[in-house]
Amino acid sequence: MQSRWQRGHSVLDYVRDGFFVPGILTKSITEDFCQEENEMTDNKRNDVPYKIYLSEDEMPKYWYNVRADMKVKPAPLVNPGTGQPMKPEELLPVFCKEAIDQEFDNDTAYVEIPEDIRNFYKMYRPSPLTRAYCLEEKLGTPAKIYYKFEGNNTSGSHKLNSAIAQAYYAKHEGLKGVTTETGAGQWGTALSMACAYLDLDCKVYMVKVSYEQKPFRREVMRTFGASVTPSPSMETEVGKKILAEHPGTTGSLGCAISEAVEAATTREGYRYVLGSVLNHVLLHQSIIGLETKAALDKYGVKPDIIVGCAGGGSNLGGLISPFVGEMLRGENDYKIIAVEPASCPSFTRGKFAYDFCDTGNICPLAKMYTLGADFIPAPNHAGGLRFHGMSPILSQLYHDGYIDAVAVPQTEVFEAAEYFARCEGILPAPESSHAIKVAIDEAKKCIETGEEKVIVIGLTGTGNFDLVAYEKFNDGVMDDYVPTDEELEASFAKLPKVE
Ligand SMILES: Cc1ncc(COP(=O)(O)O)c(C=O)c1O
Repeated sequence: MQSRWQRGHSVLDYVRDGFFVPGILTKSITEDFCQEENEMTDNKRNDVPYKIYLSEDEMPKYWYNVRADMKVKPAPLVNPGTGQPMKPEELLPVFCKEAIDQEFDNDTAYVEIPEDIRNFYKMYRPSPLTRAYCLEEKLGTPAKIYYKFEGNNTSGSHKLNSAIAQAYYAKHEGLKGVTTETGAGQWGTALSMACAYLDLDCKVYMVKVSYEQKPFRREVMRTFGASVTPSPSMETEVGKKILAEHPGTTGSLGCAISEAVEAATTREGYRYVLGSVLNHVLLHQSIIGLETKAALDKYGVKPDIIVGCAGGGSNLGGLISPFVGEMLRGENDYKIIAVEPASCPSFTRGKFAYDFCDTGNICPLAKMYTLGADFIPAPNHAGGLRFHGMSPILSQLYHDGYIDAVAVPQTEVFEAAEYFARCEGILPAPESSHAIKVAIDEAKKCIETGEEKVIVIGLTGTGNFDLVAYEKFNDGVMDDYVPTDEELEASFAKLPKVE
């Protein structure tokens, strides 16, 4: 039967109609209201609660390395100087030793999470898996929608899962500090939190346009003790070179990576850490998928569709790892959808080729879906997801047909974000909203077909610091820019040649 809510009544109607005075709710009205609510509960809601919380004891003790089950492994990193696969020792000046070991380990399926990292995780994990009952009702869909919410920490996103792991290894290896890049600031914020906890120095190169226009995350980073430099800067040789070639540039992630790598390799006791793309980052993020699976298993729920946004690929890789593992082992099948911005469409319009991860071309080459290391999304692109390449693991899985990809325009993403916020009471990050948009599209298809598909969304973070973008959307001045084929071809023409 229809609930009052579906008929357009709410507690507010009782207040307006004079039935309800807070504190003196009459018994009969309470019973009437609750009875209908309960009928709905009986019909629909008693099987799964709104939020599935695992206990701290149920939090995974091992990360899962999906590469162990991949028949075709992701292609190795290549040394741009020699054209040969990178050897682990060649990366020692750049990354922590443990991160390198994890990066090269294609065989160990389960990697123990050190107890200190698990204890840090307990400050904000296990994160809830929420059944989006309100969204389902508003849409009128028979689909069952869940979202795994990673925004419950001050950095506001999933990035902390890998930040603490990488900072922990740096500390363990006796380093003084780490360097990194950040765009809008989620990763830099996460790393500054992890470094503050472990008493490590943290140096962040922040894309200049974000440094100037998004002061809030910058100040959170400084509050946690990080030093934040707008990039490109005159602090590094590569920064000076980029500024000489592109005077007045507002920067890009690729530039900031080059500066952070140079800063790490030219300073005693420092290493560089990266928040996405690389294999070891996806390994750390597998905690998202492992918890999601454990929570669903508790209620005997099997997803049909898993949707995540894809920037460099870390949240999506982490969310889907245990599910893809089952697909790779022939145990189960899922539809997995990677959602990217139409303005930075690495999967859907990129080339599967070796490319640099940075603009300054000082990093190793990775084989990935790429738009070319020089590609910078148009300035009107508001959210994150602006990296030119994609995780080699996800690239290989996409190439082999295990995952689908969709590119969506940003105005439609913000429409979905607003719709979701009004139903579920969470202001989603613009990045996460890409996944919400496609999940809503899938749920609408279920209205047509009557299918009760289970859809899981990776809700990677909050949009509380993204209000300039929301302001543009609310003022109706946000538009969409989709790169032309000619622009992409010009960028592909500069891809390095690797045999
Ligand atoms: C909230 C949020 N979600 C998703 C992403 C995309 O990154 P990745 O593809 O590595 O998960 C970012 C990147 O900055 C982010 O801040």
